Amino acid sequence: MKVTFKKDYLKDFVADSEVELLKPTAGFVRDTLLARTGVGNEMEDWLTLPSDYDKEEFARILKVADEIKSDSKVLVVIGIGGSYLGARAVIEFLKSEFHNEKANKEGLPEVYFVGTSASGRYVDDVIDLIGNRDFSINIISKSGTTTEPAIAFRTFKSLIEKKYGKEEASKRIFATTDAHKGALLNVAKENGYERFVVPDGIGGRYSVLSAVGLLPIAVAGINIQKLMDGAKAAQEEFAKDEDILNKPSILYAIYRNILYRKGFDVETIVGYEPQFRFLFEWWKQLMAESEGKDNKGIYPTSAIFSTDLHSIGQYIQDGKKILFETILDITKPISDRVVPSADDNTDNLDYILNKPMKEVNEAALTATAQAHTSAGVPNILLQLDDLDEFNLGNLIYFFEAAVAVSGYLDGINPFDQPGVEIYKTNMFKILGKPGYTD
Ligand code: PA5
Repeated sequence: MKVTFKKDYLKDFVADSEVELLKPTAGFVRDTLLARTGVGNEMEDWLTLPSDYDKEEFARILKVADEIKSDSKVLVVIGIGGSYLGARAVIEFLKSEFHNEKANKEGLPEVYFVGTSASGRYVDDVIDLIGNRDFSINIISKSGTTTEPAIAFRTFKSLIEKKYGKEEASKRIFATTDAHKGALLNVAKENGYERFVVPDGIGGRYSVLSAVGLLPIAVAGINIQKLMDGAKAAQEEFAKDEDILNKPSILYAIYRNILYRKGFDVETIVGYEPQFRFLFEWWKQLMAESEGKDNKGIYPTSAIFSTDLHSIGQYIQDGKKILFETILDITKPISDRVVPSADDNTDNLDYILNKPMKEVNEAALTATAQAHTSAGVPNILLQLDDLDEFNLGNLIYFFEAAVAVSGYLDGINPFDQPGVEIYKTNMFKILGKPGYTD
């Protein structure tokens, strides 16, 4: 049960000898990461998080999640970037994009993510959706000063205090923030909110397996222990002393690097299940913030097929040859649905009558990979056995390890994100925040 790297669609683009040539460098990079001696090493605690996480805090997350499940119909999660994408990715990947429509029937709270933009209309909609129902808040921000979540927090804090009174409301607000400093830590202390920690040595995009992701994920009824177990298996695999070309994350990093050097500047991650959409949003952040710097880096994009075959599929097939695709596939069927019978065969579908939809989807995958590779678009294929917590935990660590190796291979620090700060500071200046004028 782990991620499998398949090179079936790469043979026309990358020779085995090219992979062999990068093997010693990739081995050195892997060892540097494990020894924590490379650039940015102060932000590498994600490497051992699946085994070294705070067990006391983990137990508290489970307890608080149970409380929220029993006293709330809605959990409002406030955060942006690394402070929300991981949780949303895991919930939608494992439970589907309709998880909120189905939640109450399953006896679970709906989970809404706010503070991801400065849109007042979006906030209006979430307030309407909550209505008179019981709710709780998980505010997640390391700095506590990011404008969009800070505005959302003001709004929902005032709403919850109006509904329950200040004292009762403070029992329904959970703050995930820096352990030692910051505006949110001060507010949380003052008001007596239960607190969880955004770990010091882990950047936002690597934080999904900390309290940042785990509390909302647990509230959505997902088994967070199995998620950690899957990640731990990937951690052990990454560290295991063996031929590094047996490690899928290293292979992925090497092939990406070779393709990038050949002029494939864009990577499109592709899936055939709509519920992969937010996992891909998380992946885009992981890749873009890790690699897009010093005027370098692969530009990450995503697509859901067959949907997007009928839009950007045209560009991929016939447009400029700047991109490669990475397909994420789950081998086990995740639904038993088959092509149904009809009163007549006027739609000419009887040739696939009773065929599992999974087989039709696989046919779309194979047909598309053949079409795109024949047009000069390399395809990497990543396979997971099943759509469950263990496999997803494994995949999360796989991507984190791969982009760390990839970043070092490209000669950049994969653990900082200086570019994100520039817009934040400009926005403070435009809005006239004291201390930020030109
Ligand atoms: O990856 C990152 O570091 C960013 O995306 C941050 O997570 C994002 O800017 C939110 O920052 P904060 O948690 O300080 O509000």
